[in-house]
Amino acid sequence: MKNKIIAANWKMNKDRDEAIDFIFKVNEKVKSVKNQAFIFAPSIFLRDLIKRVNSHIKIGAQNMYHEEKGAYTGEISYKMLKSYNIFHVLIGHSERRNIFNETDADVNKKILAAISQEIKPIVCVGESLEERKKNLTNKFISEQIEKALLDVSVDKVEEIIFAYEPLWAIGTGVTASHEEANNTIKMIRNKIRELYNDKVSENINILYGGSVNNKNIDNLLTTSDIDGVLVGGASLDPENFIEMVKREYKKRH
Ligand code: PGA
Repeated sequence: MKNKIIAANWKMNKDRDEAIDFIFKVNEKVKSVKNQAFIFAPSIFLRDLIKRVNSHIKIGAQNMYHEEKGAYTGEISYKMLKSYNIFHVLIGHSERRNIFNETDADVNKKILAAISQEIKPIVCVGESLEERKKNLTNKFISEQIEKALLDVSVDKVEEIIFAYEPLWAIGTGVTASHEEANNTIKMIRNKIRELYNDKVSENINILYGGSVNNKNIDNLLTTSDIDGVLVGGASLDPENFIEMVKREYKKRH
C-alpha cells in the first residue's frame, strides 16, 4: 500500500511568528510518521520554515513561474525555489486559475518547467458547481488533465501528484462524499491510463481536497483510490494538522 499524503495549503494566512511557531509545534510532536506530510506555505516564509522543520515534513511553494529568470515582476522562479532546497510546488490551484486567471496552458508550462528541474508538482483540477449541475464533471476534468499533461513524457509523469478539488467544496464546509470523491479520482486514474499505461495510472498519486478536516479525513483516506488529501482551512491549526499526519489510515471501502 502507498503511504498516504497529507498536504497543508496555508494559502495567504499567518505571519512570520505564527508560521515559525507552527513548525516548532510540529517538530515537537511529529517524530516518526507513516504518512508523507507537506506544508505549502507562502513563499516569503519558505526560508524560515525549511531551516527549522524536521525531516518528517516537506516544505513546498504555492506557486512558481515557468521561466528561470527575467523581467517578471512579482514572480518566483524554479531556480529560486531550488536555491532554498524547495522541491515541491502547487500548480494550478483553483484560486490561481480563477482569481489570477491562470490558464490550462500556463499550468502545462509550469508543470513542464517543474519536472525538468526535479521539482515535484501537486497539480490541482476540479469542476465548478455549474459544471457539476450540468453533469459535465468528467468531461471538464478529463480536458484539464489532458491539457496539463501535454508533452509530459511517460518517464516523468509519475513525479506529478494530482489533487482533485471540486470548486464547490473549497472553503465552503461542503465536502464531496467519500464515494463521490473516490469515483471522480477513479475516473482521473482511468484518464491517465488512457494517456499513458496501467503502471502509471496505478502508481500516480491522486489526492482529494475541499473542506477536509479531522472528522471526514478517515472516510476519505480509507477508500480504494484516494492517495491523500490537500487541506486548506483545517490545516492552519497545528494540532489539527499534527493529528491528521499522525493517524493511520487503512483501506475499508
Ligand atoms: P479547504 O481548501 O480545505 O479550506 O477547503 C482546500 C484547498 O483549497 O486546497
